[in-house]
Amino acid sequence: MTNDLSRHLAAIQEEMTSRPKGLQEHTRRVAKEAIALAAFWDVDPARVELASWIHDLFRHLPREEQLRQAREVGIEPTPDDEVDPIVLHGPSAARAARYRFGISDDEVLQAVAAHTLGIPQMPQVAKILLLADKVEPAKRKKRPAMKAIRKLARRDLDLALLCWSDWSWYQARENRWVMHPESWQARDAWVREHHIDRGGPLSIAGAAVEYDN
Ligand SMILES: [Fe+2]
Ligand SMILES: [Fe+2]
Repeated sequence: MTNDLSRHLAAIQEEMTSRPKGLQEHTRRVAKEAIALAAFWDVDPARVELASWIHDLFRHLPREEQLRQAREVGIEPTPDDEVDPIVLHGPSAARAARYRFGISDDEVLQAVAAHTLGIPQMPQVAKILLLADKVEPAKRKKRPAMKAIRKLARRDLDLALLCWSDWSWYQARENRWVMHPESWQARDAWVREHHIDRGGPLSIAGAAVEYDN
């Protein structure tokens, strides 16, 4: 681990000591899960570990505080964010990591910002963090479908992401939750990519789209 990475990791870990115990434990489990997955896919485990420790820095804040925290780090929440301001905790943590802690690894910060909703083009670090966050042991216990996603993440990271996204979409439909449009955009891109990879027809959500191979 480079000096910068270890210095930044130590600073974030120190910051996390002031967070609720449950959140600290979740973070530790995510880091362990992410490091194992990174080793499997030959991704630098130190960068993944740093992203894991940053990702939920503000997850404990209640709704109103999420909005205040976001504005404090320079994010203006959209009306879609205001429906469920908890979605802001990743972007807020990424901003704080950059401006308060001096972390400049763009892929690490993108991973942190995207770990709740996803983004169309996910760097490897982001794929690993998002999946590790969803399949860590406590989440697998609570949601048995995550066991299959975890297995799949060792065969095909993109397919695991897509399956998680489909599962989330199904949960939202079942519970009548509003799905954030960014999450839908990410899923849409992942579906297209998957179909291009498989050479299948690109017909999603009732809309025919073109592909060129
Ligand atoms: Fe989170
Ligand atoms: Fe998390």
